[in-house]
Amino acid sequence: MILITGGTGFIGSHTVVEFITIGLDVIIIDNLYNSSQVIIDRIYEITGTKPIFVKGDIRDKAFLISIFEQYPIEMVIHFAALKAVGESVLKPLEYYDNNVSGTLNLLNVMYDRGIKKFVFSSSATVYGNPHEIPITENCPIGTPINPYGQSKVIIEKILQDLSFADKEWSIAILRYFNPIGAHESGLIGELPNGIPNNLLPYITKVASGKLPKLSVFGNDYNTKDGTGVRDYIHVVDLANGHLKAYDYIKDKNGCYVWNLGTGKGYSVLEIIKAFETASKQKVPFQIKSKRAGDIDECWADCAKAQKELNWQAKRDIYTMMVDSWRWQCNQSK
Ligand code: NAD
Ligand code: WQD
Repeated sequence: MILITGGTGFIGSHTVVEFITIGLDVIIIDNLYNSSQVIIDRIYEITGTKPIFVKGDIRDKAFLISIFEQYPIEMVIHFAALKAVGESVLKPLEYYDNNVSGTLNLLNVMYDRGIKKFVFSSSATVYGNPHEIPITENCPIGTPINPYGQSKVIIEKILQDLSFADKEWSIAILRYFNPIGAHESGLIGELPNGIPNNLLPYITKVASGKLPKLSVFGNDYNTKDGTGVRDYIHVVDLANGHLKAYDYIKDKNGCYVWNLGTGKGYSVLEIIKAFETASKQKVPFQIKSKRAGDIDECWADCAKAQKELNWQAKRDIYTMMVDSWRWQCNQSK
């Protein structure tokens, strides 16, 4: 059985669907801070299987021990974290407590029970302002610009140290680029709290009339059209990357790092255009000043994941937009 922390969240729920679809047993734990239990019913609607769900917090050691005592867990896929970059600057203690202490707690409970297989949700944010583009896994970790990014850097280091000290651990560190889209059923997707920080959820809210206008943060970046360029990846492709990582580490020891992106970069203006084409909606926008901490551009070199995991993102930007829009429309019903 596989324990999925944060499994009712955006990426976690899509990963649960993919795992269940190939017949794996999963148990989800989530404190529902940024998600809803309704997602469990939605997973059932999509897959015909209701995953075990237990509400609880990864910082609660007694809770974790009780989970590991009750269920025959062999591997943990660890999504649970706080992820709002701006909020992390204002609330560093909350972010370090939730992300770093929560992960340490989980690793300690796993260690005590001799369960040493772990997949970790890291982020391209660890590269900071990248030294090379496309970014390979050998690109040095950059200077983290916010507590959220720093929490990912710290956990990666903890995992590397753990694998060095105890060769029985099997660890996959997955560095996601910019996950967007939603399940093609329109039943699960991203549920940002309040006003979204990320580009796609903001665009879909503007298109559905819930927000008046998109602010494009800067048009004088050193990029193809002056706006920021990122590697957007469909969340279902990302979820499938977890299946491949699971398969790879289940019979191997060591600590492995893979980028999960598409290898293609799109500018903010290109994304607006792609969304408008796919959704047939207008997205009013205005150019605003740059957002603090944003880099010009980044996209992944995915050759390592392709070679070692036999994984490649399949869904194109049009599909990402169509699926994001379908999800947003279903939210408004
Ligand atoms: P999300 O907020 O949708 O999902 C995270 C889930 O974890 C939520 O359901 C939340 O309720 C839960 N959670 C948070 N703290 C918890 C705790 N202490 N105990 C139990 N549950 C807790 O976020 P997501 O976009 O699905 O991100 C999943 C992971 O991927 C996170 O680790 C995030 O940092 C990482 N990541 C996300 C992105 C992105 O852009 N979405 C990019 C790179 C990395
Ligand atoms: C994308 C582009 C913005 C909003 C963040 C985190 C990163 C990772 C993914 C977790 C940039 C521009 C955005 C808006 C805009 N998360 N933009 N107007 O910043 O690449 O990455 O999410 O690990 O850690 O930092 O994603 O979607 O916020 O921005 O013009 O209202 O869109 O400037 O160029 P980002 P994003």
